[in-house]
Parts: sequence; C-alpha cells; structure tokens
Amino acid sequence: MAKVITKYVCQSCGYHSPRWVGKCPNCNEWNTFVEEAPSPLKVSKKPAGAASRVDPVPIEELEHEDVLRWQTGIVEFDRVLGGGIVPGSLVLLGGDPGIGKSTLLMQMAIHLKDSVILYVTGEESARQIKLRADRLQATSVKNILLLAETNLDLIIDIIERGLPDVIIVDSIQTMYRPGLESAPGSVSQVRESTALLLRLAKIRGSAVFVVGHVTKEGVIAGPRVIEHMVDCVLQFEGEAHYSYRILRALKNRYGSTNEIGIFEMHETGLREVPNPSEVFLSERHYGTSGSTVVASMEGTRPILVEVQALVTPTSYGVPQRNTTGVDYRRLSLLLAVLEKRMGMRLGSFDVFVNVAGGVRIDEPAIDLGIAVSIASSLRDVPVDSSSVAIGEIGLGGEIRTIGHIEKRIQEAAKLGFRRVIVPEGNIKGIKPNGDIEVIGVDRVSRAIEELLQ
Ligand code: TYD
Ligand code: MG
Repeated sequence: MAKVITKYVCQSCGYHSPRWVGKCPNCNEWNTFVEEAPSPLKVSKKPAGAASRVDPVPIEELEHEDVLRWQTGIVEFDRVLGGGIVPGSLVLLGGDPGIGKSTLLMQMAIHLKDSVILYVTGEESARQIKLRADRLQATSVKNILLLAETNLDLIIDIIERGLPDVIIVDSIQTMYRPGLESAPGSVSQVRESTALLLRLAKIRGSAVFVVGHVTKEGVIAGPRVIEHMVDCVLQFEGEAHYSYRILRALKNRYGSTNEIGIFEMHETGLREVPNPSEVFLSERHYGTSGSTVVASMEGTRPILVEVQALVTPTSYGVPQRNTTGVDYRRLSLLLAVLEKRMGMRLGSFDVFVNVAGGVRIDEPAIDLGIAVSIASSLRDVPVDSSSVAIGEIGLGGEIRTIGHIEKRIQEAAKLGFRRVIVPEGNIKGIKPNGDIEVIGVDRVSRAIEELLQ
C-alpha cells in the first residue's frame, strides 16, 4: 500500500514542513501550520479547456490587444484597474471583513449593463445578495446571475455552459475543489481554486474577480501564495470609524500600481470622491497647534491632507508614541532627527500623530509636515494655516528633494493656499505660479521658522 505522506503547510505563506512546527521558519508567524494531505498530481476534474491550443505561437502573429478594456463607469475603480477591466484577467480584491468588498463588486456588476455577470457567493445567500442589490438602488439587474455554491468544480461546469463576461467569486476562502482533502480556506484549496480560475480566465477570456479576506495582521489570508499568480491585487481599506474607503492596486500587470480610488460608504452604497483634497480638509480646525497640511502623491494624483500631532508630557513610565495613517517607524526616525538636529527634548513627552480622514500615507514627502506639526504642538504655536509643507527629511535634518513637485503645488494653489514650503533642491525646476508663493528650505529648522509664527 502506498504510504500516505501528509505535510504541514504554513497558512500564512505556504511554507511546507514534514512535521508540525510552532513558528514558521519562512515568515516567522506563530501557530500557522496545519496538516494538509498532499495535492494529488492529477486533480480528478479535467481543467477547464486544457485540451485547447497547446502549440507555441510566433509572437509577431499575436494581435496587439492592450486597447481592449471594459470600462465600468466607476471612474475611481477604472483608474485603479489601469483604465478598465481587462478581459481574461484575474483580479484579487482583499480587505477587512465589512469594509465593502462585496458592495464594490456588486456596484461594478450593476454598472456593467452590457455584460453578463456571474456572481458566485459562498458567504451569503442569493437572497442576501439580492437585498444588497436592492439597497444599491439598481434600476436593472437583468445582466447579473447569482449562484450560491462553493464547489468550484460545479461552478466551473456552470460557467462553461453560459460563459459570462465577468465572474465574481466571493470569497476565494469559501471555495473548494472536491478532489483535494484539505478544508476550504486552507492554502492548498485557495491555491488550487485560484489556479483553476486563472486557467478559466486565460482560456475563456472572462474577467474574474476574486474576493480574499485579510487576516488581522493585514495580509490576505493565504494570499502570499496566490498574489504571484493573479494579474492584479487590489486592496480595499479604510478606518473603522470613517466612511472613506480607499482602493489601492498593490500589483497590476495592466497598469500602474500606485493609483488609488477614493470612495465614501453611504446608505445606498459607495460613492466616488472625485475631489479628495477638499473632502479631507473640510473639517480642519484653524488656529489649533499641531496641524499641518501636506501634499501627498497618490498615484498620479496629488492629495492634500492634514497631518496632526499631539505632544503632551508623559504622566508616567515610558513615553508613548502612537500613529494613525503614517508609519510608526517613520515617526521614531523623525523624532530622533528633531532631538538630535534641533535639540528638541521629546524624551519626556508622549507623541501622537494622525492623518485626518482615516487615510494612510506611506510617502516620505509628508515628513516635513509631521515634523512641523510636532514642533507646533510642542511649542503650542499654530502652523500658518494658509501654507502647505512638502519635503522628505534626511537623517541630518536636511530636506531632500521629492518628485511631482509641480502637481503638488498646483493642487495647493487650486485649493486656495497662498504659500507652499518645498525642498530647496526642487526650486530650480519650478515654473513661477502667480497664485502661490513657493519657498525653498534646506533644513527642518528653516521650515519650522517659516511656518510657526
Ligand atoms: P460588505 O460589502 O458586505 O463588506 P465585505 O464584503 O467587505 O465584508 O459591506 C459591509 C458594510 O457596508 C456593512 O457594514 C454595511 C455597509 N453598507 C452601507 O453602509 N451601505 C450600503 O449601501 C451597503 C450595501 C453596505
Ligand atoms: Mg462580503
């Protein structure tokens, strides 16, 4: 009798081990190993359409296809996709539970009136999906077919019969292939199911959207094993207490990866936010210390947001450092620079930094804004409210040049700001703009002098 070899698979990164281990040697996560039977070499079911074309094709005979995209009409969504849905592509949409993934895909389906959409749900009943569509006030949903099923082999059969243009699989963790012994949601199931859907997309030309859950650490569960397989990885994110939602492309074989789409969740679904700067600045408080407006590039778009800092004496023990919307390590670095280069004594103060509106910004160009906000809160002197601060801070306290300076300045001018503080090194390349005064600074200390009156 053949020996059955089981193996243990890390549910976070897909690492294999012959025995159970507590900590994954690959991704260092704890308690992620689950026993899984090995994937059979041949899964019982014949992969969809595998028998068709196997001959190599001369590359010059292939048609140039990159113009073909289906626009959803949701501008923010199309932009993140790189200009629309590419037929034959597989898109993974990740995000926290309840963030609005199903809502976004349902809205997309409603917008794609001329295409046949198959919505496969493994989480909700068909009735629940219908109720959501009603809530979204869809006028016509004739083009949307619902299927509440989790057996992927059955689903593929159904798809092969009708061949929809777009297939939505909500979610990949609920799907399973009967030929595999492991449970739905395990790495092998997720990987095999994705591989099957990928083949289907490539061979049949349907666009497939797959919903994936995010674990509490912020990674799509089992996703590292499928991220490399799919064409696009989109992440839908937002802070629990805000209605803003941001759609980000983490990977895109058909477009830029740094585009974002901004939405707001309403009673009747997601609404696009075409003018994010205005929205994010709308609740600004004038005259309070610790608030600076920064201009961050999100993809090709500049967005103005308010960076707030609160610096208060530590009442006991170790001083706290806390961030929302910016990287914690970046804050530690900036605090070290302020201490060392500006002589600010922050060791006995708690420091909280927050990006207003619940957005997350990873761009170093907001360093200067963070530093100015901290200095402003420490001294309790408000920052000039008609100015925007842009610049990356180096370890020596110098302000380093940044990209897309003109676009950022234009956005600031458009929103009525009168002054913009930019890195000295950027000044040369800037064309004069009558609406706004541009001031170049080379050190953090200079920027703080300019902005704190
Ligand atoms: P949902 O799309 O089900 O999230 P996910 O698929 O990511 O788990 O959205 C869930 C939340 O959105 C839920 O808390 C209700 C809210 N919501 C609205 O506020 N307005 C709406 O029109 C809809 C459909 C949902
Ligand atoms: Mg859902």
